[in-house]
Amino acid sequence: MTAETALPDTLRDLPAHTPGKVELADLELLLAGAYPPLKGFLGSFDTAMVIAGGRLADGTPWPVPVTLAVPEELTGHEKVVLQDPEGVPLAVLTVAEAWRDPTSSGWRLAGGLEPLRAPAHGPFHRLRRRPDELERPDGPLLAVATREPLHRKQLGQVRQVAERLGARVLVLPLLGGEHDEALVRALLAVRRDLPDGAQVVPVPLPPRDLDDADGERDLLLRAHVAAAYGATHLLADEQQAGTAERIADGAPIPVVVPEPWAYDADVEVWRPVARIEPDHVQAELTRERLGELLDRGEPIPDWFTPPAVAAELAVARPPKHERGLTVFFTGLSGSGKSTVARGLADALIERGGRTVSLLDGDVVRRLLSAGLTFSRADRDLNIRRIGYVAAEITRHGGVAICAPIAPYAATRAEVRRMVSAVGDFVLVHVATPLEECERRDRKGLYAKARAGLIPEFTGISDPYEEPDPAVDGGADLRLDTTGLEPDEAVARVLALLEEGGWVRPA
Ligand code: ADX
Repeated sequence: MTAETALPDTLRDLPAHTPGKVELADLELLLAGAYPPLKGFLGSFDTAMVIAGGRLADGTPWPVPVTLAVPEELTGHEKVVLQDPEGVPLAVLTVAEAWRDPTSSGWRLAGGLEPLRAPAHGPFHRLRRRPDELERPDGPLLAVATREPLHRKQLGQVRQVAERLGARVLVLPLLGGEHDEALVRALLAVRRDLPDGAQVVPVPLPPRDLDDADGERDLLLRAHVAAAYGATHLLADEQQAGTAERIADGAPIPVVVPEPWAYDADVEVWRPVARIEPDHVQAELTRERLGELLDRGEPIPDWFTPPAVAAELAVARPPKHERGLTVFFTGLSGSGKSTVARGLADALIERGGRTVSLLDGDVVRRLLSAGLTFSRADRDLNIRRIGYVAAEITRHGGVAICAPIAPYAATRAEVRRMVSAVGDFVLVHVATPLEECERRDRKGLYAKARAGLIPEFTGISDPYEEPDPAVDGGADLRLDTTGLEPDEAVARVLALLEEGGWVRPA
């Protein structure tokens, strides 16, 4: 069915549901035939067997639970339309079982799928292929299914293994991380360093929450998908020898672990460690060291990775002084949040080099959150809206300064998660005690609240939950503005941002 065709009338009356990110990826792979033998979402028995022993109820190896969570209202229906986040129907699920997950006690629907429309794809959609759209080479096909770019070492290993197997190479960038486009560009950029005819086909396979300490199930899932795409072998990481050995029996195709490689500083090439004089082996650039170089905006050495890959690494992890940042102030009404937030915004603007957006609590409530009350649900919605905007600002490399009360730790945790996925997040607790806020009572609101004229007033008749490392990550800075000049408060926040590398010292 093409995107233009209208949906059959019979579907209009069915309830619709928008699955989550991992579920949408699963749906796409199920419909594309990339999860054989699975044809739909799993039921309770299959799920229990998969979790317990990595096999479906009929004994077929399958590594991860592919399930669909739904709200309880949807459990009474025979068919449900599954749609993308924009509301475009993708498939009809014929419900074979509605069941409750024993750990989360959330509802799940199992059953077969009838495709309606191909999912809309974003950037690089031209590279996407269903397994049945790929040309199958005659000989062996080595899959490299990865969430990371390939550096010079891995490129050498791919060439070595491909040559040994006489295989062509199929690179499967696994999408669903935060920097999919940078990953695909980094992998396209190294095609000329791979054997001739290497193909790059992005596959939606976001990382999932698995009880999978050494990555066995993740590696197995990659092997299943790679096999569906016609691969005869899957390349693992050189550190995964143990994992690969343990999964060998259940894997649909052999998982090949390359021999260890290192950089030979004498002849300035990467090659198998076994062929290097021990005192010529150059120490690896560790993940931590690479992270430090990127954070400081220092060049990534050419011996480690090709410049085009290094450029994409910097896109995914920009230098800290250019990286998007949200500074989130939380505290009681009258604690001084707005004053410090405004002072911080002014100071950053004066210094230059950064774009700054201020999302003050009262100002947000006049526009973005106009009409919302101070009920728990509305406060949460208000904070989520602020978080959404802050995350967008952060994604684009700006500085978002937010200053709502944000009294609930769980909601602050949500904002921290949203923002951290695309940049950095700093939580400042303006911890001025209630007595001081009430003494100031700049807007006269505390007096009214005490008189019972304003219900659900934070600190008086509604709770304020202090930042807690176990819930919202805790405050990165605590400011009690009692007897503290605003300039000094701003200076303390600035000092924190300088120490963290987000702001260059004046
Ligand atoms: S939040 O709880 O949703 O984060 P927000 O920061 O947007 O609150 O708004 C707080 C401001 O609204 C306060 O500074 C105060 O001026 C005003 N306000 C009005 N009613 C209340 C209330 N019941 N509790 C707290 N603040 C209120």
